Amino acid sequence: MLKVGIIGFGYMGNFHYEKVSHFDDVQVTCAFDNNDEKLKSAEKKGLKAYKTLDEFLKEDIDLVVIATPNQWHEKYAVAAMKTGKNVLCEKPATMSVDEMNQIIRVSKETGNFFTVHQQRRFDPDYRVVKDIVNSGAIGKITTIESRVLGERGVCFGWRADPESGGGMLYDWGVHLIDQILQLYPEETVTSIYARVLSVLTPAVDDLFEITLNLSNGVCAKVNVGTFALQKLPRWFLFGDRGTLKLDDFSGTEGGAARIKGEVQGFESVVGQKVLGPSRTMAPLKPEYLEKIDLPKEEDMTLEYWRNLIEALRGKEALYVTTSQILRQMKIVEAAFESAKRNEVIKTSI
Ligand SMILES: NC(=O)c1ccc[n+]([C@@H]2O[C@H](COP(=O)([O-])OP(=O)(O)OC[C@H]3O[C@@H](n4cnc5c(N)ncnc54)[C@H](O)[C@@H]3O)[C@@H](O)[C@H]2O)c1
Repeated sequence: MLKVGIIGFGYMGNFHYEKVSHFDDVQVTCAFDNNDEKLKSAEKKGLKAYKTLDEFLKEDIDLVVIATPNQWHEKYAVAAMKTGKNVLCEKPATMSVDEMNQIIRVSKETGNFFTVHQQRRFDPDYRVVKDIVNSGAIGKITTIESRVLGERGVCFGWRADPESGGGMLYDWGVHLIDQILQLYPEETVTSIYARVLSVLTPAVDDLFEITLNLSNGVCAKVNVGTFALQKLPRWFLFGDRGTLKLDDFSGTEGGAARIKGEVQGFESVVGQKVLGPSRTMAPLKPEYLEKIDLPKEEDMTLEYWRNLIEALRGKEALYVTTSQILRQMKIVEAAFESAKRNEVIKTSI
């Protein structure tokens, strides 16, 4: 029986508790939180509940899950590894490259692993994007727009507090950046330009746009905003033979199309009243277009945890490695720096 202990028994602590319940021979046995109500809720689920880290770390557990606000991740991860535990940490792994390097050092010294909950690698919308890109169905990709927009406006709770690691770049940004990096794991990021704004939440960013240029010529534009009352697609990809649009996280809404034959010499439907006098931007005659069926993605909501458990048993390599996360943190830091200086940052990350 593998034993798991959870630090921070809030929203994501409970999410992980639920995930573990799907697997045999793995059990959450204890929790540590600094809030009495959360400890009571852990006890109700039959867990041993601790109010101090030291007492919690005396428990005989194989894996510590860290699901606290972000400023505690590095400290708790280091302490857990130093007492012989492997660590699954919520994203963002850390709030800086320095903190991430410290985690890597301790992981190497102790021989315990550190991994991060980048479960959005298994989201259906992202897997559709990956399948379409890798199949070449829309040709060579030039631009990828990846976007998450909400309506709520002001960030809530500790997410509105800079000391806690609040703000959307640490929150959604790391998921979206991770997805782009995993789409092209062999490429480097050659330049970064970012705008990081506080529109409705004074102390932290609640709107950002990051442009990442990759060594293969692909330009990825990542955009998150907490206040948008109209919809834009979750993904939009330009290829040199077609386009892909995904409306939401389902991976089933939207569409993809490519042209039949060669790009040159197509006739468009001219004389459109709304468009006005343009031939370049007039729509193509339908016979030149070929609809691409979106690939049907199987349910992979347990895949992240399945791999993690196999890694704990020494049977599989972890999907999410420290070197991937170090890269991600370097990009986050460069994005903040670019926004501060209002400059393009040349990199080879
Ligand atoms: N992977 C994802 O999709 C995803 C989604 C949401 C949140 N997260 C991440 O999960 C983490 C937790 O977010 P949440 O939404 O569950 O927050 P939350 O506020 O719901 O829960 C945080 C818990 O940590 C406890 N806590 C706070 N400070 C503590 C401390 N010093 N020591 C011990 N316990 C402490 C709180 O009492 C609370 O129970 C964050 O890092 C967040 O970025 C990840």
